[in-house]
Amino acid sequence: MIQTEDMEFAPRVISPENTQEDNETDGSLRPQTLHEYIGQDKVKENLAIYIEAAKRRSEALDHVLLYGPPGLGKTTLSAIIAHELGVNLRITTGPAIEKPGDLVSLLTSLSDNDVLFIDEIHRLSRAVEEILYPALEDRVIDIIIGKGPSARSIRMDLKPFTLIGATTRAGQLSAPLRDRFGVVHRLELYTKEQLTDIVRRSSMILGIPCTADGAAEIAGRARGTPRIANRLLKRVRDFADVMGNGQITQQIASIALSRLEIDELGLDSLDRRMLEMIIKGYGGGPVGLETLASAIGEEAITIEDICEPFLMQLGFLGRTPRGRCATKLAYEHLGYATAEQNSASDDGQLTL
Ligand code: ADE
Repeated sequence: MIQTEDMEFAPRVISPENTQEDNETDGSLRPQTLHEYIGQDKVKENLAIYIEAAKRRSEALDHVLLYGPPGLGKTTLSAIIAHELGVNLRITTGPAIEKPGDLVSLLTSLSDNDVLFIDEIHRLSRAVEEILYPALEDRVIDIIIGKGPSARSIRMDLKPFTLIGATTRAGQLSAPLRDRFGVVHRLELYTKEQLTDIVRRSSMILGIPCTADGAAEIAGRARGTPRIANRLLKRVRDFADVMGNGQITQQIASIALSRLEIDELGLDSLDRRMLEMIIKGYGGGPVGLETLASAIGEEAITIEDICEPFLMQLGFLGRTPRGRCATKLAYEHLGYATAEQNSASDDGQLTL
C-alpha cells in the first residue's frame, strides 16, 4: 500500500521536479523490483544485500538516506525497497510534517518493519527532528503531557520500522540526523545508455512505437534524469502523432526537442542564459551564486539543484570558493571564443 501527499507542479518541460502529469503515468512506468530498476548499480547491489539480510533475520532494514539531484528515482527506490521487503510504505515530505504531533501519529500508525519515506527531509523543523532522534536510535518517542510545572514526559515504544530519508541537499542535514542513518547512498546522474534503456522500457509500457535511435536521441537530451526522459518521451510522442505516423524516430525526436528549445546536449534556455551571463556578464567568472541568480532573475536554489549538477557533469561549469566559472567546453558549446582564443586571434592565429 502506498500513500502519497500532493506533489507540487512545475512548468518547465526539462525541470526534474515532479509534476501532475508525471504522477499520472509514473505509476505504470515505475519499476517494482530492483531487477527492473535500471542504473545506480552500486546502490542496487548494496541494497539487495541489506534487504536480503533484513528479511532473513525478520528485522527492519536499517534507516536509509538517499541523496542527489531531483528526478533520479529516490521515491521509486523507496517503493522498491518496501516492495522487496514485503512491507507497507508511507510517503510524506519534510514540510508536510508541521508539528511534532504529526510525526508521532505517523510513527505510531506503522506496522512491524514498515517503511516511512520522508522526501525533502532537510526541511523538517527542529522540533520534529527532536522527536525523530530517539525514534530512530532507540525506537521510542517521548511525549510531553500537560503544560507548565505539571507537564510530564512519557516514553512510548514504537514498532520496528525503517525510515528512508531523501534529500537533494545532504549538506543541509543536521549532523545528529545524518548520523542516525546506517545506509547512506548518493544517486548519480544516469548515463545516456541507461536512459536509452529507460526510454525503451517506458515506450513499451506506454505502447509508443519508438526506434532505437529515437530512444537514444531523447536519452541524450534528458540531462541524466529519468523523470525528464519519460516526460520528453510523452512530448515527442505528440510530435510523432501529428507530424509523422506515430513512430518516434531519431529525426522526429530531434525536431521535437529542438522545438522545445532543448539542445543536442540537453541544455535548455535557463542553462544557456546562466552560462551566457557568466561568459558575457562576468568575463567567464568566477561569479557568486546569489549574484548570478539575481542577474538572470532565477532562484539560487533552482540554479544550484537543477542547472549546476548537470552542467558540472558536462564539464561546462566549475565551482570555486570565489564563485562559478564557465569552462572552455561551455564557451565552445555556446559558440564563444575564450579570452585566450581572442588574444590569439588578435595575433591572427585563431578565429572562432
Ligand atoms: N523509470 C524511471 N526511472 C527508472 C529506472 N531507474 N529504471 C527503470 N525505469 C525507470
